[in-house]
Amino acid sequence: MQTARARAPGKIILFGEHAVVHHQPAIAVPLAAVQARAEAVPDDFGSGLTVHAPDVNCVLRVTGDLDQSDPLYNALVYPLELALSALNAPVPDLTITIRSSIPIASGLGSGAALATALVRALALALCRPLSNDALNALIYEVEKRHHSNPSGIDNTVIVYERPVYFVRDAPPTSFIIAAPFTLVVGDTGVNSPTHLAVTDVGRLFETEPERITPIFTRIGAIASQARAAIETGSPAALGPLMNENHALLRELTVSSPELDDLCAAALRAGALGAKLSGGGRGGNMIALVAPEQAPAITGALLEAGATAAFATTVG
Ligand code: PMV
Repeated sequence: MQTARARAPGKIILFGEHAVVHHQPAIAVPLAAVQARAEAVPDDFGSGLTVHAPDVNCVLRVTGDLDQSDPLYNALVYPLELALSALNAPVPDLTITIRSSIPIASGLGSGAALATALVRALALALCRPLSNDALNALIYEVEKRHHSNPSGIDNTVIVYERPVYFVRDAPPTSFIIAAPFTLVVGDTGVNSPTHLAVTDVGRLFETEPERITPIFTRIGAIASQARAAIETGSPAALGPLMNENHALLRELTVSSPELDDLCAAALRAGALGAKLSGGGRGGNMIALVAPEQAPAITGALLEAGATAAFATTVG
């Protein structure tokens, strides 16, 4: 065994969340501005596997008799148990310390990034590094535990760390960002578990398929149009597509007054488009901005009640 370090980025879903669960295309990019980082250090003989998460003041020993309904078990221990079983390896004498700057339950991929960093560090410490394909399959299993019906977009963009055009149950494809563009990300500060929103949208679809199907289809078409705009170096075309995607997500009941307020504030301050990103009902929104406008729009979001806001360049 050896000391090993690993990390994983956050992610931004640019277009297509929720409809992607129902087999429409979506596009997402890694977000390197926030990261999960894990360090695995060999421990004394017989000490077993310990996860230390100082950010949440938590130390968990992987003993097999942990409370499996504890969200910290799901986030920090379950990925390691799954990895040990996939590697057919006994519980090692190892302490893994995990830190993350990705806000929890806010649509930036915290769960998938924590699991990816933890499993990568474990596998490297055991000198059994996993291929991205194997890791992606494993993190998808972790996502199922978090979300019950995940599309797989989060684990894919985070594990491969590349822009992804994603259709559920099809091999993911990457795409070229021909001209970089600037987003401002604004956090409502409201934690919102993705699985509740996904379940509600699923119910809505079951009860009103005639009304909801065209919404899903249009969201999928927007994602494909957006990919074409990004690949041809016309990111300004993304603005109106973001506004339309946000309006459709509102119809799916996954926006919130806070998200609508932040999107409106960004547009008032001169953003070219704005939408929620991720599971919605809270979490983060994104706004497309001219680079020189980024500080003003970041300020406008904070003034409108965002608990955090920052600019990031895509591409
Ligand atoms: O995990 P979040 O909140 O970033 O949301 C993921 C995107 C959804 O489309 C809402 C769910 C999914 O599994 O694709």
